[in-house]
Amino acid sequence: MSLTVRPVMGRRAKISALGTYVPPDVITNQDLEKMVETSDQWITERTGIKTRHKLAAGLGVSDMCTEAAKRCLAARGIPASDVEAILVGTVTPDMMYPSTACLVQDKIGAAGAWGFDVSAGCSGFVFALQAGAKFIESGAHNMVLICGADANTRMTDYTDRTTCVLFGDGAGAVLLEPCEPGEIGFIDFVHEVDGSGGVSLNMPGGGSLNPSTHETVDKKMHYIHQDGPAVFKFAVRKMAETTVKVLERNGLTGADLGCFIPHQANKRIITATADRLGMPEDRVIINIEKYGNTSSGSIPLAMQSALDEGKLKKNDLVLLGAMGAGFTVGAALLRWEI
Ligand SMILES: CC(C)(COP(=O)(O)OP(=O)(O)OC[C@H]1O[C@@H](n2cnc3c(N)ncnc32)[C@H](O)[C@@H]1OP(=O)(O)O)[C@@H](O)C(=O)NCCC(=O)NCCS
Repeated sequence: MSLTVRPVMGRRAKISALGTYVPPDVITNQDLEKMVETSDQWITERTGIKTRHKLAAGLGVSDMCTEAAKRCLAARGIPASDVEAILVGTVTPDMMYPSTACLVQDKIGAAGAWGFDVSAGCSGFVFALQAGAKFIESGAHNMVLICGADANTRMTDYTDRTTCVLFGDGAGAVLLEPCEPGEIGFIDFVHEVDGSGGVSLNMPGGGSLNPSTHETVDKKMHYIHQDGPAVFKFAVRKMAETTVKVLERNGLTGADLGCFIPHQANKRIITATADRLGMPEDRVIINIEKYGNTSSGSIPLAMQSALDEGKLKKNDLVLLGAMGAGFTVGAALLRWEI
């Protein structure tokens, strides 16, 4: 492997800690069989999902972020007052405003921090990572908290079998800091959007175009609307394209990676991307069977699975890949420094 680290003006940024949270309540495929015309066999074969977690009533996505953030800060052993900025990738905020970042800032007691939400569908976490890394690299900040979290079950129509089997709730948080001498941290990012794909995956109600009314609710416009096969085709094509691009322009191949940590939307999308990368199955992190698609929560949750399974170790080269509503697509290449 010849790793030519792309130059970064000023400093380099790294992930220095991880914390995750999934709510305890679980929806099984058997539960879904009682709600819609589906089967454990269909869901397992077509998506790879067995269970997904569901946030309890009375809680919002900010509560999941808060729990993940507290675990992340505890893992690093620092108080919340050290955090300078909070970026939250989410498309299921507690409410239109204030932002989830503001709610989390208050709930964790990060008195000196500012922050904002990043709306990029399931790519929210990787988009926020790049923004946070740039704050560190530019010298603007020394301690940035990135949360990726979604409470998709809140936006899911449990009479629509084409979407309700897919989504779950979960959250993760990472801390970004400057690299120490000898560390590499973030190497490169490739991010794209294709707004023409917005028609294939959206939640049309409740915004300025279609503010909530009895009519928008009757028409189920407050739920996830999706053309599954169109999203599937885009995901398979673009996740491969962007992950290969970020490797190639850094002189790497899948063989150089410790592991590939993809967004968990559908097991078939993950294995198609991994095949294109030439990654053997044991170095591809898949936990979709437990959590379903948790949108911006999925990559940090998969990082946690990789650590728990001993598949992610200090100094490993790691590739992240995501796609989501928008369409959005993103890849990040980094060396794991924890
Ligand atoms: C949604 C998805 C699983 C559907 O799988 P698919 O193989 O594309 O299946 P299709 O939509 O072509 O449907 C095939 C058949 O299964 C049926 N079907 C759909 N959902 C079903 C379910 N939960 N149980 C049983 N049958 C189902 C369809 O009605 C269709 O029946 P028909 O042939 O009689 O019309 C798949 O398209 C997908 O994962 N898309 C990407 C979604 C995604 O990742 N979204 C988030 C992006 S971040």
